[in-house]
Amino acid sequence: MTESFQSVSQTEYGPASAVVGLQWGDEGKGKLVDLLAGRFAAVVRYNGGANAGHSVVVGGERYALHLMPSGILAEGVLAVIGNGVVVDPERLLEEMEGLRARGVDVSRLVVSDRAHVVLPYHKAEDALREELLTRGTDTPDPTAEGGPKNAVQAIGTTRRGIGPAYADKVQRASAIRVGDLVREDILRPKIELACAIKNAMFEKLHVGEPIRFDPETLTKEMLAHGERLRDTIRDTTWLLHDLLREGKPVLFEGANATMLDVDHGTFPYVTSSNSSSLGIGPGSGVPPQRIGRIIGVVKAYSTRVGGGPMPTELDGDTAHQIRERGHEYGTTTGRPRRVGWLDLVAVRYAAMVSGATEICLTLLDVLSGFDELRVCTGYRMPDGSVTDRFEADGFALEKVEPVYETLAGFADDITGVRDFDELPEAARRYVRRIEEGTGVPVSIVSVGPDRAQTITRDLGAVVTTG
Ligand code: GDP
Ligand code: IMO
Ligand code: MG
Repeated sequence: MTESFQSVSQTEYGPASAVVGLQWGDEGKGKLVDLLAGRFAAVVRYNGGANAGHSVVVGGERYALHLMPSGILAEGVLAVIGNGVVVDPERLLEEMEGLRARGVDVSRLVVSDRAHVVLPYHKAEDALREELLTRGTDTPDPTAEGGPKNAVQAIGTTRRGIGPAYADKVQRASAIRVGDLVREDILRPKIELACAIKNAMFEKLHVGEPIRFDPETLTKEMLAHGERLRDTIRDTTWLLHDLLREGKPVLFEGANATMLDVDHGTFPYVTSSNSSSLGIGPGSGVPPQRIGRIIGVVKAYSTRVGGGPMPTELDGDTAHQIRERGHEYGTTTGRPRRVGWLDLVAVRYAAMVSGATEICLTLLDVLSGFDELRVCTGYRMPDGSVTDRFEADGFALEKVEPVYETLAGFADDITGVRDFDELPEAARRYVRRIEEGTGVPVSIVSVGPDRAQTITRDLGAVVTTG
């Protein structure tokens, strides 16, 4: 495990730490959480649902985790699904089964009784909304009136029912919580109410044949899931506070990422939860002052899945090269990820919003072999002015042009490097440029998917040279 991690005093930093993505997801959070998990009593998911896909490679074996906290792969660590997560019980049970079959002890999973449940009608609604947005050709072109260009485009969701499940949570009455799965008297009337509302909607709005959900069938299905999950269901707020009071460290595992945060990301091209570190409080019941280290995970370039602006997006040979070398295909949907140069304007903003105390830079190995590397240090606005302040507005961002700085590339294979000083000079310079651009020290550099392919730097030294 990392020396630098040990050297940080827990009293100085608070007993809880967090790993959070500072781009549009898939930064390598899963790898980092797995790497650190062993030194924590619990690893806690606080947001999102099965839209996440966290790949972890252990001893050459690859695990793709969607709802399960990555801490499940570390022996003896509690894997906690907090109240802020939306849980698709069918997928969770499938994931548990898959892990059990590979010899992983899943009895360490704890699920909040207050987490909300994703039901089949949420997934149907998610897919329907996306279809309607994709086919919505009757809508007049808003650009003709100077309006936003993409006002009615599809979000490009994972179709895992995330948006509709969070919408129901906020609407309250018919929303189902994990604790309800073992309380038939509460579950049945809620499902009846939800089906009445959803079926009326599906009857009016459909692509192909209208869908209909039978409340009785759904109730039985959900009760069966509840029975199988019964032993995992707990009040996780008290569980986490009890651990913290006993001085046991807790690690929060962000899903999705800061740029996809519903309040602070590129709205409307975002997910439906607070996927920055700001979601930790509401999504777990642990208040901000308990959280010390916030490790922002940054991929050495940019990727994005789904719709929405991405100022540094590339196409052509460079994009192809990065995509193939980085295996940039979605863990959850298999979609090819959009690829671009590192956007320091976006990362600087994300580090600020998520309060990153340090950065873990991942996939640096993928950038070897380019003569030159580019980083975006500003956005040219439609009026010609240049700003380094990220504008968290999906429509406004469509209109900016990236301003690049060019840095020297490096040719060597760095996947075997374990010491920062042994990286090629150009690679070190690239890392330092990220520190300068964000004002945040890079304490960990990842040079491959395996646990061992990690360079840790002494945080004290990094802070003083920063
Ligand atoms: P997450 O959603 O943030 O956990 O990231 P994903 O797992 O969706 O995507 C990151 C991908 O990059 C996974 O396939 C990882 O195994 C892989 N990966 C993580 N770190 C590195 C690295 O430093 N180098 C390379 N080449 N691959 C990495
Ligand atoms: P991890 O945790 C990358 C994106 C989707 C879509 C938008 C909304 O693996 O980094 P949703 O299904 O959440 O309503 O989709 O958000 N998205 C992600 N992209 N990584 C993720 O998670 C993502 N979670 C959501 O592609 O553009
Ligand atoms: Mg992912």
